[in-house]
Amino acid sequence: MTMPIAIFASGNGSNFQALVEATASSELLATIKLLVCDNPNAYVIERAQKLGIPTFIFNPKNYATKADFEKDIIEQLNEHAVSYIVLAGYMRLIGPTLLNAFPKKIINIHPSLLPSFPGKDAIGQAFRAGVKQTGITVHVVDEGMDTGPIIAQKPINIEDNESLESIEARIHELEHDFYKATLQMVFRKGEL
Ligand code: GRF
Repeated sequence: MTMPIAIFASGNGSNFQALVEATASSELLATIKLLVCDNPNAYVIERAQKLGIPTFIFNPKNYATKADFEKDIIEQLNEHAVSYIVLAGYMRLIGPTLLNAFPKKIINIHPSLLPSFPGKDAIGQAFRAGVKQTGITVHVVDEGMDTGPIIAQKPINIEDNESLESIEARIHELEHDFYKATLQMVFRKGEL
């Protein structure tokens, strides 16, 4: 049995693409039923179209409240019988409406060793802080910003004089591998 999931993304979508490819090669035993995207101009939408993944695209500005658009999202998730929500560069806090509908079923990837450097530009934050080590965290989503229980982490050493671009490239490459492996572990266990 493969796990029916939805991926939420707001921008480039390289993690989305890596996960779709991992399902095609059966490294990740999941079926990506839907891409949910809150940015009608995001490149990830083009990726989904090329890969033949259905999309639900919405503009938050067209809704009065977060609860209103999350209700529409839930309707779509139920229509596609989705069991897990996988965030991959979704630039928005998940509200109580969605959290209550999918308790302990929403997972996020963040490009730092949480609890260090939560929020935006985590790789840049680590670079500017001059730390010798940073990495990736996969965690359960709660109402906070990158605060939920940690599922798995992967550290990398920052080389002396390494550029921000180089660290970014290495972290993104690692994310693509680590996310599919961690999700596969979670889905195999069947619970968090
Ligand atoms: C990744 O670094 C991910 O960890 C963070 O947002 C970025 C998304 O990149 N949450 P992409 O859109 O998957 O290329």
